[in-house]
Amino acid sequence: MNKITFGSSIICMDHINFERDVKLVENLGIDFLHLDVMDGNFVPRYGIYPEILKRMASITDTKMDLHLMVNNPEFAIDQFGSIDNIEYISVHIEKNETNILRIIDKIKALGKKAGIVLNLYTPVIVLEELIKHSEIDSVLFMGIHPGVLIQQSRPQTVYRKAQELNDLCAQFGSLDMIQCDGGVSFDTISTLKDSGINNFVCGSSTLYKGINLDNPWEENVLKIESNFKKMKALV
Ligand code: DX5
Ligand code: ZN
Repeated sequence: MNKITFGSSIICMDHINFERDVKLVENLGIDFLHLDVMDGNFVPRYGIYPEILKRMASITDTKMDLHLMVNNPEFAIDQFGSIDNIEYISVHIEKNETNILRIIDKIKALGKKAGIVLNLYTPVIVLEELIKHSEIDSVLFMGIHPGVLIQQSRPQTVYRKAQELNDLCAQFGSLDMIQCDGGVSFDTISTLKDSGINNFVCGSSTLYKGINLDNPWEENVLKIESNFKKMKALV
């Protein structure tokens, strides 16, 4: 089992203070900056410009994982793929099944690790051939519907699917990283870890829980620090 790692979802940061907020989580020892790229089409939201990410990468050594929620992942890979900090690029299998090998090859050609994202109700069986043929490095389970911020999570569904994935891996091959994105909470993180998930994307339900950007920064820092300690103690 690979070590447990945490990603900070940058969607929850103060977007006019990215440098300050990135440095904070970097100093806390966060493992990844989790970056949601959205096109307002695959999901009903817009994501982040490559220019912003490039600037962000210039002020931190923290690794990044890119979560593409877009209709045209190949275009997004062209736009973002040159950023050195990015270690994983993950793409939804939904809508991309036909071209998935071409997309994976494109990610790997850039020297990045390739991940597949499954929406909440996409079954694990779609990964069988990809795992059998060692095509992918990671799997990301959505714990919520992508691109919609405040909503009820379905940890039981993620838990069951992660167990199914473990069974697949036990039979056919291994993965570097199994992620849960969305709805990870202090109540569910231990159980999700027991299901084999080893990377938690932390957002409004964990790392940034209780944060109000209108509050004094020092108050938010204390909260983020204590949330991070609490999460680490639970896994
Ligand atoms: C979906 C979301 C997440 C989310 C993290 O990709 O953009 O990255 O913020 O989890 P929450 O906010 O549910 O804790
Ligand atoms: Zn995400």
